[in-house]
Amino acid sequence: MCGIIGYTGKQEAGPILLDGLQRLEYRGYDSAGLAVCRGGSAHASPQVVKKAGRVEVLSRLVKEAHLRGSCGIGHTRWATHGRVSDNNAHPHVSSDGAIVLAHNGVIENFLQLRQSLEKLGYTFQSETDTEVLANLIALHYARLKEGNGTHNVLEEAVRQSLAEVEGTYGIAVLSVDDPETIIGARKGSPLVLGVGNGEKMLASDVTAFAGRMQSVVYLDDGQIVRMDRDNFSISTLSNESVAPVLSKITWRSEDAELGDFPHYMLKEIFDQPASLENAMRGRFSQDGSTAQFGGLNMGPRELRQVDRILFLGCGTAWHACLIAKHMIEKYARIPVDVDYASEFRYRNSPLEKNTLVFTVSQSGETLDTLEAQREAKRKGYRVLSILNVVGSTMARENDGGIYQHSGPEIGVASTKAFTAQVLVATMIALYFGRMRDMSFADGREMVDAVRELPGLVKQVLAGAANIEKIARKYAAMNDFLFLGRLEMFPVALEGALKLKEISYIHAEGYPAAEMKHGPIALICGKCPTVVIAMKGEMLKKCLSSIQEVKARKGPVIVITNCPGDIPAGLADETIVLPPSHECVQPILATIPLQLLSYYIAVARGCDVDKPRNLAKSVTVE
Ligand code: AGP
Repeated sequence: MCGIIGYTGKQEAGPILLDGLQRLEYRGYDSAGLAVCRGGSAHASPQVVKKAGRVEVLSRLVKEAHLRGSCGIGHTRWATHGRVSDNNAHPHVSSDGAIVLAHNGVIENFLQLRQSLEKLGYTFQSETDTEVLANLIALHYARLKEGNGTHNVLEEAVRQSLAEVEGTYGIAVLSVDDPETIIGARKGSPLVLGVGNGEKMLASDVTAFAGRMQSVVYLDDGQIVRMDRDNFSISTLSNESVAPVLSKITWRSEDAELGDFPHYMLKEIFDQPASLENAMRGRFSQDGSTAQFGGLNMGPRELRQVDRILFLGCGTAWHACLIAKHMIEKYARIPVDVDYASEFRYRNSPLEKNTLVFTVSQSGETLDTLEAQREAKRKGYRVLSILNVVGSTMARENDGGIYQHSGPEIGVASTKAFTAQVLVATMIALYFGRMRDMSFADGREMVDAVRELPGLVKQVLAGAANIEKIARKYAAMNDFLFLGRLEMFPVALEGALKLKEISYIHAEGYPAAEMKHGPIALICGKCPTVVIAMKGEMLKKCLSSIQEVKARKGPVIVITNCPGDIPAGLADETIVLPPSHECVQPILATIPLQLLSYYIAVARGCDVDKPRNLAKSVTVE
């Protein structure tokens, strides 16, 4: 939800900022901009270039502008306040020209602030809340300078301004008087400081500077950082100094590169044998009968007391939570509830005493999930998480958890993060199951099944050409239904979400038997139904649903691991999965759905990695 970046050092800032913005573009791509100050030339106006559209458009303008300077800030926008336009693009400059600001978040009291500032003579070029904050900082800055303040005037002006602000922010601020210094601050929007050799960077996440900076400091809410090329200091909003905790960056810059793939989504789909391997590495007991996790911060005795588990997440992560419910109830016999994080945080739902809460999030920054985590903690519950981004806000605020180690996921449509979340959930089911009624032999069988998973995923990926052919055939359709039973129902939901997100086709997921209670009205020759029909007790039920679709002339695409059990001629298209243990089937069934939506979106000419209206990390409500 907007990406911000800052650089101060000895190199030309423009190309470094553009490179960072390209890597942050998945956070928002309505407009982009940057501002560069020429180091050492105090009072020189910052050079600002900004434009509605992608970073690519900005790049061309930056080249033409011949920017010079070794300190600057940049922004890629996902619009909240104010439409998508050149004027509303960041950075924003205060009307007195003193302050330049890039902002991620929402200033809720911006209207009142704007009115007060207008009375004092400040003027506005945009409809944004950000320009209000730029002018507010300029006001405090001017007053502090008038009072003959010289020491850290910009930092103090930011501090005083933020005390008046309601809402969320991650900001990067420059002043024309001190063109080698950047001030950053955060509340509710992520911000990390990169520490390099004679240079510093500030960004919404580490992907922006991985490979360039050696270490990182994850800023906490309510902190302000002041940085120049050689030094940095961190303090709180109430001006107490904070001792920084430096961490090593675990992601390599090449992890976030496309390689030979045309889109990140396709690359990430094909990453899955490796990302699943990473999620399970080192997590099996020596005797191969159960899973083990290092970061739960809870001993087996405590975990055995757990009577109920509540999973919270949003979007695709919520689908992973639904599969977790099936897995844990089936293999560990612990009752599991699942809630949308956004609903949980407001519903004040009663939780039983020995409930363990899990938050699930790729980014670890989704505001709804973060606030749900905070609410569960406020109520005194132990909260663990399944997360991808190391050092994310959820990771720093939870009581423990499990990293999925998927590497950076850049495509806005989540693929490899989802399958890793499901895998971790399956391993949690195994772990809890072995603590309860699951036998040693059953544990061994499940571990073996999980270990085989990367190889099986490779087999499914080898069928991509067939899926592409099917995708082309149905790409012009405007409605799709996705059906599955039990744990395949959330897989169906995920298939529908993927298709909606990147191809803009209306799609719905249902438990197959629910179709006859309403959605069947949609069935016609132009509404294909994708049915996940796996070997087992639900197969016959799924076949009946297929018959119902066929009776109404609906095209049927079947995903199955038992093609021989599907009556000849019943399905229009069949996608065959390799035989496997039931516990890994949700993951295997997901892969063809990811490929199907990817190839349909490509056939429709959609921008797969940057679908309209979406952003990767949703840090607003
Ligand atoms: C996935 O394709 C979506 N873009 C979206 O639903 C996403 O899963 C959701 O916003 C949650 O994100 P998180 O995992 O980073 O919390």
